[in-house]
Amino acid sequence: MDSQIIHVNNDGKAAYDIILSRDFAAFDYGNKDKRLCIVTDSNVAKYCLNDTVASLSRHFKDIITFTFDAGEENKNLETVQDLYAFLIENHFDRKCVLGALGGGVVGDLTGFAAATYLRGIPFIQIPTSLLACVDSSVGGKTGVDFRRYKNMVGAFNMPELVYMNTSLMATLPDREVSCGMAEVIKYGYIMDRDFLDIISQNSGALLAKDPEALGAIVKRCCECKKEVVEEDPYEKGRRAILNFGHTAGHAVEKAAGFKLNHGECVAIGMNAALYISENRGYISSSDREKALELMICFNLPVTVPKEIKSAPELSSALTNQALIDNMRSDKKTLDGNIRFVLLKETGEAFVCGDVSEDEINIALEVVLS
Ligand code: GLY
Repeated sequence: MDSQIIHVNNDGKAAYDIILSRDFAAFDYGNKDKRLCIVTDSNVAKYCLNDTVASLSRHFKDIITFTFDAGEENKNLETVQDLYAFLIENHFDRKCVLGALGGGVVGDLTGFAAATYLRGIPFIQIPTSLLACVDSSVGGKTGVDFRRYKNMVGAFNMPELVYMNTSLMATLPDREVSCGMAEVIKYGYIMDRDFLDIISQNSGALLAKDPEALGAIVKRCCECKKEVVEEDPYEKGRRAILNFGHTAGHAVEKAAGFKLNHGECVAIGMNAALYISENRGYISSSDREKALELMICFNLPVTVPKEIKSAPELSSALTNQALIDNMRSDKKTLDGNIRFVLLKETGEAFVCGDVSEDEINIALEVVLS
């Protein structure tokens, strides 16, 4: 695959490019006088930090690196404060650049630090996970969790560049690929039903982390995301369809105490949303079954796994009522009105604010069964 470029506009003006490549050869930041701080986590640092620094060194005056412990539990203000302190110690000013090398946690946290350090410095996204490539690195949502409320503190902050070196995905753990596939499948259900056939036909190659197959689906997902974020960059309307699976998903993620990762919870949450859509007669039971088969084919859970449900420290958090309480305290539902993204049909989603507690309860029983 030669490198490919997707231009993303913001408020009608050219904002940044997404470059999809299999190496760093097409990387070009333009001005070589800048200092870069690559922010990454302990997992990513092990397998690609040194090579990335070596590949990018000719594009910057100098590169420093900041590594924090991997895990959603570290996506918080303490880690951001450590990063601020590191930047101050290293005399980082407004002309310097942050580079997020990693998955969604790294990208969200780095983008937020870039939005707030010195009232804003530039940042670039170098996503290394499938999930970050297809979702979190594009669209400018940045932030951290706060007292276990997911993404509660954040900012819209557009990157200057999103550079995807898809060869970095070759070393991803299988579980990470599956998690990314949840967000990939999401695009098919909310906006492109034909994409579902492509995903299904290429499942073997995708699970084997074939770079060509991964590159092709990443490209299609980025095109979908570009379309949505250009239309509604600050989530005042249509962008919320990207939260398909996230209403119940975030509630489960919080309840499971980080034992399930984001993509797994989105898959469980998509099952809940599919169930409500089916019960309302928008999609057929065979539509929903097909969706579950596709998720299972990528080793995604569609119900909360037994070992999580039976963990003594989690059982009180994984009840209908506790999950509904989580939904009510989610940042998307601060007005007390739980919003679900439902399907009008496979390939078309809408945001629904009138899902009753009875409908939610039945769907939760399905995912907790
Ligand atoms: N991850 C959903 C969004 O970017 O809006």
